[in-house]
Amino acid sequence: MTESRQIAAVILAAGQGTRMKSTCPKVLHQISGKPLVAWPAELSETLGCHSTLLVVGHGAAEVQSTLGDHRYSYVLQSEQLGTGHALLCAREALVGFSGTLLLLCGDVPLLQQETLEAMLEMHAATKASVTLLTAVVDDPTGYGRIVRDDDGRVTAIVEQKDATADQLSITEINAGIYAFEAPWVFEALLSVGNNNAQNEYYLTDIVEAANHQGRTVGAMIVDAEEVMGINDRSQLAEAAAVMRQRINEQLMHDGVTLIDPDNSYIDADVKIGPDSIVYPNVHLRGTTVIGSGCTIEPGVVMTDCQVGDNVHIKPGSVLAESKIGNGSAIGPMAHLRPGTVLAGGNKIGNFVETKKANLDTGSQASHLTYIGDAEVGKNVNFGCGTITCNYDGVNKHITEIGDDVFVGSDVQFIAPVKIGSNSLIGAGSTITKDVPDGALAIARSLQKNIEGWVKKNKKKK
Ligand code: UD1
Ligand code: CA
Repeated sequence: MTESRQIAAVILAAGQGTRMKSTCPKVLHQISGKPLVAWPAELSETLGCHSTLLVVGHGAAEVQSTLGDHRYSYVLQSEQLGTGHALLCAREALVGFSGTLLLLCGDVPLLQQETLEAMLEMHAATKASVTLLTAVVDDPTGYGRIVRDDDGRVTAIVEQKDATADQLSITEINAGIYAFEAPWVFEALLSVGNNNAQNEYYLTDIVEAANHQGRTVGAMIVDAEEVMGINDRSQLAEAAAVMRQRINEQLMHDGVTLIDPDNSYIDADVKIGPDSIVYPNVHLRGTTVIGSGCTIEPGVVMTDCQVGDNVHIKPGSVLAESKIGNGSAIGPMAHLRPGTVLAGGNKIGNFVETKKANLDTGSQASHLTYIGDAEVGKNVNFGCGTITCNYDGVNKHITEIGDDVFVGSDVQFIAPVKIGSNSLIGAGSTITKDVPDGALAIARSLQKNIEGWVKKNKKKK
């Protein structure tokens, strides 16, 4: 439906966000793992907009490097002279464009696709020059008020600071989201001045301009929550809670059990298969993908991981950029660092740390072990307290271990070192040389027993 119309999106994201009291530009604060501005930006893509242009100013370089250049383009508003001025900054970039200009705000993350589609449909159907979203709220403080005539037509938007006492009591507010007719909107903006309480060029004045020219202004009343703007940290938390609820509802709808959805922190792009169970206070971040039938117990923090089916991750485990094959069991309190790849049926127990480690099927380390920069075959058993000594103070080296190796407790592998298949490494060994297939390697000093030594020494004292 929307694909057939030419729509160009402009996202206003130049403001400082003073009330955030932050060194980070407001639109880069995150909810559900994405910066605020990414939400409207991605929405414009799902809508099939033919271009998405961001007006940036405060933290422009940071905003641009966060969102990247391949999907979006940018114009700089070097001085923040108001929302009307901000849109005018996009004029040159949109010369020759004569479709619908969709204006979104970088600090309104909860807006949904269906709402925008309905607005664009209404805009097209009514042949309006301006269509805006409004909401009726309990407390309209700070928002622009929607002024309507006796026939219910929107005649003007009055900003809080410019409003009369009567206007201040209006509870219908301007959401700051619009569909405009281009290029008309740019010509009309040229006539908008800054003679107001804030000496700013108000985008909202475009409504009066349209009315003066006898053009159609449409307004669609939507759910207030959806158009909530983020100006401070408590609004950030409020919006984050709404987003979490949306994400969690969807997951439950798709067959995932969340023991306590109010305490499940799952980023927007995370995928979880059906019949998986997520316990409270679990954080699943970034691009994490979890298969079906998995159990993720309390306090697990997982970032950018790929987890197969029927995997059990026990409490307090921290995993990043790792792949966990089907049927593996991790934790409690395991630390899987980037580059860990477990082929399947693996067991990584408590206080085990892995990094850049490939473990083939069935290999396990149940307790107190460090496996880093290692290539490990199938069905290898690491005893308690095994360490791959991968770092010589200058370089990192690889430990290679074949299939079916049994590693006794308290073994150190001084890398680079190769351990042949079917070998057995005696407990307490420090392995500095390669071990051939099928060999027993022991590297520890021989035990000496001195009979009667204790009694004799006690007598001397
Ligand atoms: C604006 C509207 C108000 C509406 C409210 C909804 C105007 C004059 N007022 O007010 O009617 O109720 O949004 O949230 O439009 N920005 C720029 N450059 C600027 C100024 C702002 O890029 O020079 C950007 C901001 O980064 C932000 C958006 O525009 O993303 C809105 O600006 P903001 O200052 O928050 O406007 P409000 O005062 O909230
Ligand atoms: Ca605002």
